[in-house]
Amino acid sequence: MKVAITAVSGQLGASIARRAIEEFGINNVVGTARSPEKAKGLGIKIFQADYDSKDGFLEAFQGIDAVVLISSMGDPAHRIGQHRNVIRAAKETGVKKFIYTSIIGKKGESTFDAIVNSNRQTEEDVKDSGLEYAVGRNGLYIEPDVEYLDNYIKEGKIANCAADGKCPYTSRDELAIAYIQLLKNDSLKNQTYNLVGEAITQTELVGYFNKYFDSKLVYESQTPEEYLKWQQIHNGEFLGSIIAGIYKKIRNNEFDLESDYEKVVGRKHKTIPEIFRQYNK
Ligand SMILES: NC(=O)c1ccc[n+]([C@@H]2O[C@H](COP(=O)([O-])OP(=O)(O)OC[C@H]3O[C@@H](n4cnc5c(N)ncnc54)[C@H](OP(=O)(O)O)[C@@H]3O)[C@@H](O)[C@H]2O)c1
Repeated sequence: MKVAITAVSGQLGASIARRAIEEFGINNVVGTARSPEKAKGLGIKIFQADYDSKDGFLEAFQGIDAVVLISSMGDPAHRIGQHRNVIRAAKETGVKKFIYTSIIGKKGESTFDAIVNSNRQTEEDVKDSGLEYAVGRNGLYIEPDVEYLDNYIKEGKIANCAADGKCPYTSRDELAIAYIQLLKNDSLKNQTYNLVGEAITQTELVGYFNKYFDSKLVYESQTPEEYLKWQQIHNGEFLGSIIAGIYKKIRNNEFDLESDYEKVVGRKHKTIPEIFRQYNK
């Protein structure tokens, strides 16, 4: 089976590419990247391709059986068209199976909902393409919180507006393992899966940090309005409102969904303690 993975210059694309090389062999995996030099280390053939045009993808998908589309970082309205370029290129080159990395989330009214909605539109576009497909709805990555830990420690706390809401996290490597199954296991085709671990509160997350990273953090609950203001001051209007929207959705339990991870992978998703222990090996 020959597979192509998009955006392999990014972290999820690279994680899936590494697992795909192990599974299908280095000669059966190609990558696409807007900036191919960033993906050189993977050792696979990389095609230059920007989501803004299907041209690079038409070249990259020649002779390819299955494509994994990593969702774009573009603004929500723009990314729908970007994803359509990749779907059309797959159709035109005779790709059989199309895998899309989407996002979890029930409908809500947060400033993150435009992103969720744009992902849902791409899911529809993938289904309408007539290609065999599988959609993974990814949980929130835990890695950014770990990378931010030094800042949390400086502040002595994790502060946001999630309150007692529950959020199921995942990691890029757990996702990569699931995407390999969606690529190779035909009994999983034409379905949508929530790729998430167990849902936890921010207070529980703080407890895990304190236990596995020896921090002494506390959790501080803020109102959505306070937190949005703080985010916009520190991360700018666009990114700040996206992050604040994510925590508002956690507050409203809009990410607290049943996990399909075991159905896809054949074992339970790793717990946060299992993932945190790997950092300290
Ligand atoms: N589930 C979550 O918690 C979560 C969190 C953040 C993001 N996401 C979504 O998941 C995706 C993958 O996450 P990640 O961790 O791999 O993010 P990442 O490391 O920031 O990588 C993003 C990738 O998207 C590529 N890209 C952006 N615009 C592009 C364009 N116009 N044409 C081609 N490639 C483009 C980037 O290419 P360059 O290297 O050229 O910039 C990069 O390879 C993100 O793009 C975002 O949609 C999910």
